[in-house]
Amino acid sequence: MPKKCSSCYHCRIRCLVITIFSIIFALGAFFAIRNEISLQALALQDQADVWHLPYRVKTPAVTNESQKIAALESVRATDSSTSSTNGKQTLAPSNHGLDGSLKASINITVNHFHRYDGVVIATKIHGPHQISLVSQSLCLLQKAYNARMNYDILVFTTIPLSNYQTEQLMQLVAPAKLTVALDIPVGGLQQMIANLSEQRRQIFLERCKVNSADNITWFSECPGRLAYNWQAEFRTLHIWNHPALAKYKFMVWTDSDGFPTQIWDQDPVAHMIAHNLAIFFDHFPQGKIQGTVRDTVLQRMEKAFNKTLCTLEFAKKGHLRPTFGTLKKCLERNITIPLIHGFFHITNLQFYRREIVLQWQETLLGECFLCRHLDDQMAVTIPAAMLAPRRSRDMRRSGLNLKVFHNGVMDGQRDERVGGFIDYWKANKKNFPEAMGHCPIKNSG
Ligand SMILES: *[C@@H]1O[C@H](CO)[C@@H](O)[C@H](O)[C@H]1NC(C)=O
Ligand SMILES: *[C@@H]1O[C@H](CO)[C@@H](O)[C@H](O)[C@H]1NC(C)=O
Ligand SMILES: *[C@@H]1O[C@H](CO)[C@@H](O)[C@H](O)[C@H]1NC(C)=O
Ligand SMILES: *[C@@H]1O[C@H](CO)[C@@H](O)[C@H](O)[C@H]1NC(C)=O
Ligand SMILES: *[C@@H]1O[C@H](CO)[C@@H](O)[C@H](O)[C@H]1NC(C)=O
Ligand SMILES: *[C@@H]1O[C@H](CO)[C@@H](O)[C@H](O)[C@H]1NC(C)=O
Repeated sequence: MPKKCSSCYHCRIRCLVITIFSIIFALGAFFAIRNEISLQALALQDQADVWHLPYRVKTPAVTNESQKIAALESVRATDSSTSSTNGKQTLAPSNHGLDGSLKASINITVNHFHRYDGVVIATKIHGPHQISLVSQSLCLLQKAYNARMNYDILVFTTIPLSNYQTEQLMQLVAPAKLTVALDIPVGGLQQMIANLSEQRRQIFLERCKVNSADNITWFSECPGRLAYNWQAEFRTLHIWNHPALAKYKFMVWTDSDGFPTQIWDQDPVAHMIAHNLAIFFDHFPQGKIQGTVRDTVLQRMEKAFNKTLCTLEFAKKGHLRPTFGTLKKCLERNITIPLIHGFFHITNLQFYRREIVLQWQETLLGECFLCRHLDDQMAVTIPAAMLAPRRSRDMRRSGLNLKVFHNGVMDGQRDERVGGFIDYWKANKKNFPEAMGHCPIKNSG
């Protein structure tokens, strides 16, 4: 039994010491926890977003390559404002409303043109007839950026390429490693149709206005050409778990008709990784969800997320700003939901492979096989808006101006219309001497 503190002089001293140590310990614990909480607040800028690795305040000293790789695995952000704040990042009072209004005042250093682990450049064609298109696009991207980075390149195709064609592509981007992967299961379209349940197959054949699947090809209109509908369905759902992507963490997506037009002086991948983004997109918005499709999509959102997106716009700083409501209220308001432009963006595969996200992609597709109206832009935009709006950023508004040509305009900006690519190239190739005379330019886009 301990003696009472007042019972003797020594006991009083001992009690005093114990009390002082207890206070110090309690204070230490308090600050440790508080620091932990602020770090988490920083990392969890999106309340619902718990998929990423924790932030570290400082970049560990890196002296050799294997250390560098290990460090990059764990570090998602480094702090440039440490000098004034003694190694601690300053956090504004956290405001975790889901309206995108958190204002964390953090300065993050971006190590431009630092080669990160787990990055892949991916694109898709339907088959050999698009070799010249994808050659043009990959060659320009290689000259604009990847010659310095040497990231792996993955070309998805539905119709296999010949060995010769594959080798031509490989040589074009060497020494970067290029792989060609089939984006459909063995057996192809006919087997996919045969695999459908009786009911789904009947609905599909009716849409194609035929009685039997015999004459259905990728070029059938059902409506919407099936090749096109498949790329949308593939990019909506199947891509995220495709084995060829399994070893990567970040995917730079370029449509095969997206053409870089100058050497990049900024590194979108480094920016993406430093800011721990879920998606970093060249342009927003392109197209929108409206009308009867909107009603279906809102219902599916409710099903997948237990909440409904009512509006979506940009915050000043260039990230997405959603508002949410009940299904009933959002349906009544006759809203339209703008979408992230799909032709060029970088996605965080850890985010898009989350269970809740994959569940959404499946819910979005529903029973419909190779349908036109539910597209990859919705599949990519909605989880970003729902789960990680502050980590879903626009490149131009983040200070990057890459000038990627697509459909006659730069970076999707309608007021930067430049016409067909061949004419544009004739007039402007001198601005891109690295590619001039090296890249085969045969497609107007
Ligand atoms: C690099 O760092 C790792 C881990 O600290 C160490 O095991 C390895 O020996 C180092 N390699 C060289 C070449 O210094
Ligand atoms: C971040 O950096 C900018 C430019 O260097 C500076 O104006 C701003 O005050 C910094 N913010 C913080 C929170 O340190
Ligand atoms: C058809 O279904 C079988 C069994 O589920 C599966 O192994 C195969 O990959 C499917 N084929 C296609 C083309 O979907
Ligand atoms: C498929 O096309 C061929 C040639 O056009 C035609 O003879 C045949 O009847 C078609 N089959 C079906 C099931 O429509
Ligand atoms: C939605 O709510 C149901 C029932 O409360 C729950 O089982 C489910 O996990 C929730 N889903 C999400 C994504 O929160
Ligand atoms: C709903 O919005 C669409 C386009 O935004 C518009 O054409 C239509 O008239 C609106 N309907 C109602 C009932 O307001």
